[in-house]
Amino acid sequence: MSHPARPLPPLSFSEPEMRRIMDKVSAMIVDHFTGLDTRPVTTPSTLPSLQAGLAEPLPMQPVPVDDLLEQVRTHVLEQMTHQDHPRNFAFVPGPSNFIGAVADALASAFNTFCGAWIGPSGSAQIEITTIEWLRELFEFPETAGGLFVSGGSMANMTCLAVARHEMLANNPFNATVYFSDQTHSSVAKGLKILGFQQYQLRKIPSDAHYRLPMEALKAKIAADRQQGLVPFCVVANAGTTNAGMVDPLHEIADFCAAEGLWMHVDGAYGGSAALSPSGRKVLDGLNRADSLSIDPHKWMFQPYEIGCALVRNRAHLKETFRVSAEYLKIIEESAEQPNFSDYGVQLTRGFRALKLWMSLKAFGIPAFRDAIESGIRNAETVEALLREKPQWEIITPACLGVITFRYREEGMSEQELDQLNSRISTELIMGGYAMLSPTVMSGRLVLRMCTINPRTTEADLQGTIRRMKDIATAGA
Ligand SMILES: Cc1ncc(COP(=O)(O)O)c(C=O)c1O
Repeated sequence: MSHPARPLPPLSFSEPEMRRIMDKVSAMIVDHFTGLDTRPVTTPSTLPSLQAGLAEPLPMQPVPVDDLLEQVRTHVLEQMTHQDHPRNFAFVPGPSNFIGAVADALASAFNTFCGAWIGPSGSAQIEITTIEWLRELFEFPETAGGLFVSGGSMANMTCLAVARHEMLANNPFNATVYFSDQTHSSVAKGLKILGFQQYQLRKIPSDAHYRLPMEALKAKIAADRQQGLVPFCVVANAGTTNAGMVDPLHEIADFCAAEGLWMHVDGAYGGSAALSPSGRKVLDGLNRADSLSIDPHKWMFQPYEIGCALVRNRAHLKETFRVSAEYLKIIEESAEQPNFSDYGVQLTRGFRALKLWMSLKAFGIPAFRDAIESGIRNAETVEALLREKPQWEIITPACLGVITFRYREEGMSEQELDQLNSRISTELIMGGYAMLSPTVMSGRLVLRMCTINPRTTEADLQGTIRRMKDIATAGA
């Protein structure tokens, strides 16, 4: 429908111009989603070439939007690592999905404020509904609640802030927190920001399966109590970043209950696997946590950014974060439902919930369960393919969509093998066909694949292994 002509307001475009630009942008987006597997995962570019295309003086004159789109296409979108590429197995990829991207466009265009329940607040209700769905999917009790944050790091920090508030009345003096050496760096980072010193972070060497060893945990806590320290929290992993391993969740929950400790579970990588039948078995006990971090922008296929902090007793969120002010009184008094700004750090918050809500509805939960299950199966397929050839050594078996391994060659020292495996990953990345990231397990450089993209095919996995072998044997 066209509207009567009126002068263009500042910082605006005419309606036909907006429609023309949107057509171009939507074509770029659809091309991205339809042609991704035919393009390189990453295009190696140099700093000088990026600077030549993008390091510019302040724009004092308007630049035509078509030129801007072209600049973004050639110097950004074609010069990046595609996290959603079916052969990106590095770090934790972000497989994303089209509906999530559409939802983000809507949320951004309508500039939705999600800090509070103001007036008719459909956006707040969607966040409440979606959090409630997650509570149900992760089998948390009805007392539980949470909020969407930027990602796993922020979810971990939010949950640890709640633990600090509830267990220590916010006084971290001499308080100690326990986790294995496989725990993601965001936990230590969050604790540092929350005022904990290095000596208060008890990093326990993991066992032979890269899990938190209960005996060592118990001994450390007993010794610390004897010394007058105040143990208050154990952080358990539900899928380590390195190897997808899961700490003994039931044992940790029993121990925390007996000792009066807060149990936080970092499920930012692997937690979402609890939606799938086989992941649910591996993650049994996840729902006993006092707080849980989930990262829908990883294994729930959402575009960045969306993490989720889920807390067993939602009242704890408000107790931890609510701070009142006179200019916020109107918001507080008119709210028919909780204000999410009382549940976390942000006052002004974007509409992160929309993408997860729309995607879960557009595809349905069974499709999500299948998509997660396929990520678990992909890693098992890689393991089976590698076990067929004696040159490949499995370092940690496929677990929750991650496998680590190493190429071995007769007569090479461990150090030479480190170099060979490092070369395999570097050359694979440079080739553009696939991408994986190496890591270090027990002092040795190993190759690691994280296979959670549901659009990855068996041919992608076979092609990647073939190329790695070709690199390893080239020049031999
Ligand atoms: C286990 C785990 N926790 C936390 C994080 C941090 O999440 P984000 O990068 O979303 O902040 C990651 C990221 O890979 C992770 O694997």
